[in-house]
Amino acid sequence: MTKKIAVFVGSLRKESFNRKMAKALAILAPESLMLEIVEIGELPLYNQDYDDGGNPPSTWTAFRGHVKSFDGFLFVTPEYNRSVPGVLKNALDVGSRPYGQSVWGGKPGAVITVSPGVIGGFGANHHLRQSLVFLNVPSMQQPEAYIGGAAQLFDANGNITNETTREFLRRFMDAFGVWVAKNSSKII
Ligand SMILES: Cc1cc2nc3c(=O)[nH]c(=O)nc-3n(C[C@H](O)[C@H](O)[C@H](O)COP(=O)(O)O)c2cc1C
Repeated sequence: MTKKIAVFVGSLRKESFNRKMAKALAILAPESLMLEIVEIGELPLYNQDYDDGGNPPSTWTAFRGHVKSFDGFLFVTPEYNRSVPGVLKNALDVGSRPYGQSVWGGKPGAVITVSPGVIGGFGANHHLRQSLVFLNVPSMQQPEAYIGGAAQLFDANGNITNETTREFLRRFMDAFGVWVAKNSSKII
């Protein structure tokens, strides 16, 4: 059965390399996975008062409901100051509350970081994994994906120009397909 995967992009930039990567991954994914980008840019910053007052913003409620309908999560993000961009961290926080009602727990995930720099967003990748441990999202360990040199990676139509990178990404997505199949039915 096809598994629905929510894709979260940690950049709001129009020409974002990470958004291009997310779209490329949707094409490279095996048939067992259906990827859909879930937008996170309009979510108000998390403020517990809104949940405590029983009147959370409608965008939070819609986001939480939408995320619950997926079977797994793929995070595609740049690194900001060696960590996770605020917009993505905010989405994790919004989905994790109210306390005891997190939408994340027990569903499989994977992380890929993309940067024009040479380190490929290693710091963001691992900071994100730290949150995913706490949120109980079993995250694929191998292959790891720190994609550097992003400014040279795409042609004008968003296609990945480098054959070696494209094949690596295909293997990454195949492995994620196996990871999702293995971990989706588990009660964790
Ligand atoms: C606030 C800020 C902090 C950044 N910090 C890092 C960083 O720590 N490491 C890195 O590789 N690139 C860093 N960059 C550069 C981003 O990798 C680059 O802007 C990239 O294109 C962002 O991803 P996008 O193309 O998907 O928007 C930073 C950019 C911004 C705007």
